[in-house]
Amino acid sequence: MPVAIITGASKGLGRALAGALAARGWDLVLDARTAEVLQETAAGLAVHGTRVTAVAGDVTDAGHRSGLVAAAWRLSGVDLLVSNASALGAEPLVRLDELPLEGLRRALEVNVVAALALVQEALPLLRASGTGTVITVSSDAAAEAYETWGGYGASKAALDHLAAVLGEEEPGLRVWAVDPGDMATDLYAAAVPDDEDPRPTPASVVPAFLRLLDERPASGRYGAPSLLEGR
Ligand SMILES: NC(=O)c1ccc[n+]([C@@H]2O[C@H](COP(=O)([O-])OP(=O)(O)OC[C@H]3O[C@@H](n4cnc5c(N)ncnc54)[C@H](OP(=O)(O)O)[C@@H]3O)[C@@H](O)[C@H]2O)c1
Repeated sequence: MPVAIITGASKGLGRALAGALAARGWDLVLDARTAEVLQETAAGLAVHGTRVTAVAGDVTDAGHRSGLVAAAWRLSGVDLLVSNASALGAEPLVRLDELPLEGLRRALEVNVVAALALVQEALPLLRASGTGTVITVSSDAAAEAYETWGGYGASKAALDHLAAVLGEEEPGLRVWAVDPGDMATDLYAAAVPDDEDPRPTPASVVPAFLRLLDERPASGRYGAPSLLEGR
């Protein structure tokens, strides 16, 4: 069975994607910081008969990242790495004139540095897979200038650029930066607590990721809305 490492998989988009991959027979290595929530999610997925290894920890911790890749190696390797865990930098989001620099550093550390570090750790297994794939979860804040989304958006823009260069440097892999669009999740509520407009569920966005895995287009940046057209 193919093996996926998904960071930030205890809830939201990560959990929804994990569920869809489990239903397709993937084995999974899942991470999040809050162990109880992660365990609950993992237990829910095991009903599919999939092998699920839950490794609680913070993606910024080098020992934790090694643990994720070692867990995947024990399952057979790494066919897919999804960098989904993310930090906002300020909750709620604030304008740049108020953005705490520590918050910006944290967003860069979680969203960019840790994502690259995990790629580096997993690369030998991804290259050996034959269908090695890296997905970095982006945001339209990486490409558009929205008030208060500057720090987070800058980190996602940096992540997009790393993904684009990685795609050039690793022609044997597929590297997709995917903008899922707005979703009703804890992250969105923490970013903009006063926004009560309805948002799509994470589950409704997952078919965009499955389409990429089915069709395996060239490495590049993709948006969920266009991937979902006609589905
Ligand atoms: N929601 C949106 O509207 C939206 C729009 C565009 C892009 N995105 C992107 O979509 C992705 C998923 O976000 P979501 O909305 O699904 O968020 P979510 O529901 O809040 O889930 C975030 C997940 O990441 C984990 N996590 C956070 N920081 C972590 C860390 N340092 N180390 C390990 N795990 C960590 C969380 O668990 P713990 O807190 O227990 O660690 C949780 O499992 C993110 O990359 C986000 O930037 C979201």
